[in-house]
Amino acid sequence: MTAIPEHLINTVYLGDVMELMRQLPDRSVDMVFSDPDYNVGVRYNGKSYTRSFEEYIEWYIELARESLRILKDDGNMFFINYPKQNAYLRVRFLDGVCYDVQDYVWVYNTNVGHSPKRFTTAHRSILHCRKTAHNKFFKEQVAQPYQNPTDRRIRQRIAQGQKGRMPYSWFYFDLVKNVSREKTFHACQIPQKLSEMLILSCTQPGDVVLVHFGGSGAELEVCQRLGRRFLAAEIDPKYHEMILNRLRTGAIRDEYRLIRRMVRPEDLALQPTLWSESADGVGV
Ligand SMILES: C[S@@+](CC[C@H](N)C(=O)[O-])C[C@H]1O[C@@H](n2cnc3c(N)ncnc32)[C@H](O)[C@@H]1O
Repeated sequence: MTAIPEHLINTVYLGDVMELMRQLPDRSVDMVFSDPDYNVGVRYNGKSYTRSFEEYIEWYIELARESLRILKDDGNMFFINYPKQNAYLRVRFLDGVCYDVQDYVWVYNTNVGHSPKRFTTAHRSILHCRKTAHNKFFKEQVAQPYQNPTDRRIRQRIAQGQKGRMPYSWFYFDLVKNVSREKTFHACQIPQKLSEMLILSCTQPGDVVLVHFGGSGAELEVCQRLGRRFLAAEIDPKYHEMILNRLRTGAIRDEYRLIRRMVRPEDLALQPTLWSESADGVGV
């Protein structure tokens, strides 16, 4: 089996993720984690990647096709998106080529996106794709406490060393709040507790995780902490710089925070820019 070029391991490619993937051999990564732009008008560091829905789905399918090529047969691939985008990806492509596709739901509380004529969107879809029935999956790394530990059968399982039950197919995780320790000036961050659960569910230390979109570096920091090797791309130079700094220092420097803890007088002129970017992430 051809190996992944060593210079790409534990680094973040500055550019298009499709270019990165073309450099990777078939069946070479253990997990693909994808949290793309959702094509709903979000601006990232002032840039928009929004296009027509049809163009977006064609691009999304190509992203998935190339990812399946480089995913190992026992690997796992996850796509986070709004339900409609994921539904199109699933029906038009994934169902026809994967051994199995599951559609999980991430639910959260939100105070944006309310509309008088419909219920407020407060969930995202997470597609979990498997190429074969032999995908790696480690229940013990994500098990949740049994709800009825005094039940006779549950007591038996605990006595046998079982750590808890398999998580359900819906997950509650709070959105990353502006004041959160993990919040950066990035427009759209996935909570680290969520990415950590997905990474732990199907990888072990040393495994290779391809994070399509580096973003704030949130998932890459989780990989680093858990001892997973990673590959990633980020097209925006400012985000790329932030990720590298975050991974090198193990911390988010004040200049990369949405809300700075200490504002230096010379930085005050920059504040309106940072605040206007916070509007980028307003949900749909
Ligand atoms: C939804 S965000 C990812 C956020 C990330 N999950 C986090 O929690 O920090 C999508 C990111 O993809 C980047 N991006 C957009 N198109 C890209 C492409 N073709 N290749 C690589 N990065 C891209 C954007 O700059 C943005 O940072």
